[in-house]
Amino acid sequence: SDYQNILVKEQGRVGIITLNRPEALNALNAALGAEVLAAAQAFDRDPGIGAIILTGSERAFAAGADIKEMAPRTYMEMYTQDFFSDWDRLAAVRTPLIAAVAGHALGGGCELAMICDFIIAAENAKFGQPEIRLGLIPGMGGTQRLARAVGKAKAMEMVLTGRTMDAAEAERSGLVARIVPAADLMEAALAAAETIAGMSKPIALMAKEAVNIAFETSLAEGVHVERRLNHSCFATEDQKEGMAAFIEKRPPVFAHR
Ligand code: HXC
Repeated sequence: SDYQNILVKEQGRVGIITLNRPEALNALNAALGAEVLAAAQAFDRDPGIGAIILTGSERAFAAGADIKEMAPRTYMEMYTQDFFSDWDRLAAVRTPLIAAVAGHALGGGCELAMICDFIIAAENAKFGQPEIRLGLIPGMGGTQRLARAVGKAKAMEMVLTGRTMDAAEAERSGLVARIVPAADLMEAALAAAETIAGMSKPIALMAKEAVNIAFETSLAEGVHVERRLNHSCFATEDQKEGMAAFIEKRPPVFAHR
């Protein structure tokens, strides 16, 4: 795998994708988007991987879509090439995806963090949708996911004024799961990812699918999907193992398949 814009590694059952365009604060250009998608899809297909971490640098998770790449684009190019649609395919990855965010997570960077299943933030993390200052609006789901994460008032204020939110406000507002000291960010993300990757992979996929349904459908329909998935857990070896281990007072050994 010869990626130009990201670093990819595996640590046990955890796949780690690090955005690596330091000269542009990890601005998301088309090449980087294609690489992140390819790496995430490869991990998704790998039964040896149970969770994925997406991270950037200490200074920037990502400072947005690449403004220099976007600046000359015409409507017809954006529309016919369906710019930013790689990121929809990242949202379709089924393996749990954790964003470990330090520094700037702006514009497409904030949107990318929100595409992940949850965000662990360093104390220096800053989130924002400053597109409006560029004569643009978000285009990778920011208006929708921010509104769902923090509610209308803060989402509107951020999208209309372009102001950023620090890590403390982001945690208070429900945008991030947890804040940790910057030096502990990767350790904390790895601990969470290893915990998830130690669970049954099919059951973790079902858990993720069930929570995601909450954002797509009515309560009754969502509960219905949850019930069907819950019942299907009983068709797995891992449910038998998990419950036997509890009863026998020993740690479970999941088959992950
Ligand atoms: C291209 C970028 C960039 C970006 C930073 N750089 N953000 N290049 N696209 N989004 C580049 C700078 O041009 C500069 O390169 C280098 O990274 C370092 O940035 P500085 O500005 O010198 O750093 P600093 O002064 O620390 O300021 C950091 C910053 C600022 C506050 C994050 O860079 C900034 O405001 N960036 C843009 C943030 C933004 O508007 N994001 C939304 C983009 S629109 P050179 O070569 O000059 O040294 C978007 C649309 C999404 O995301 C729509 C759907 C995808």
